[in-house]
Amino acid sequence: MEGLLAALEGSGLATWARGARWGYAALSGAHVLGIALLVGAMVPLNLVRLGLGRVPQEPIARVLVPAAGVGLALAAATGAVLFAVRASEYAALAVVQAKLILVALGTASALVLHAAYGWFMERAGARRRAIHAGVSLVLWLMVLALGRLIAFVG
Ligand code: HEM
Repeated sequence: MEGLLAALEGSGLATWARGARWGYAALSGAHVLGIALLVGAMVPLNLVRLGLGRVPQEPIARVLVPAAGVGLALAAATGAVLFAVRASEYAALAVVQAKLILVALGTASALVLHAAYGWFMERAGARRRAIHAGVSLVLWLMVLALGRLIAFVG
């Protein structure tokens, strides 16, 4: 494990990001853009699935599910480089460990549910959609809070 973390820290991307002041700022900004897209799509989507507004769910899901997917991909790609910059330090933090476990759980559960019930959950009943929405809402807001906490505990 230590060898892997050291290899990450010594990688070309991590070395570049550590030394490039504006590059690091852009990377961190892109991470926040990914988070904004993900959470900004997941919150209204899940509230609609929980019954807010009594509006048709499928057209809303057709816009917000891809937005959340792009946001997650951007947050994960930029987050991986941010992590590599100080891999050993981040890996030792409980807040980072908890955040990464929740990101993995959230991603895996979304993929499994969407594979089973359709990309827009169109084959799921109202009860299953509502349960998934509640779990997803809590989970991604916890990831958001844990991510922001890193700066205060590291
Ligand atoms: C594989 C996925 C991810 C990895 C490896 C990752 C890693 C990181 C790292 C290393 C930082 C910098 C911490 C610091 O020193 O301040 C960070 C910041 C942050 N992350 Fe992530 N992250 C990932 C996905 C996410 C997701 C999905 C969210 C939100 C839903 C998120 C929310 C945040 C927040 C709010 C910050 C603080 C941003 C700031 O204050 O500038 N991260 N992340």
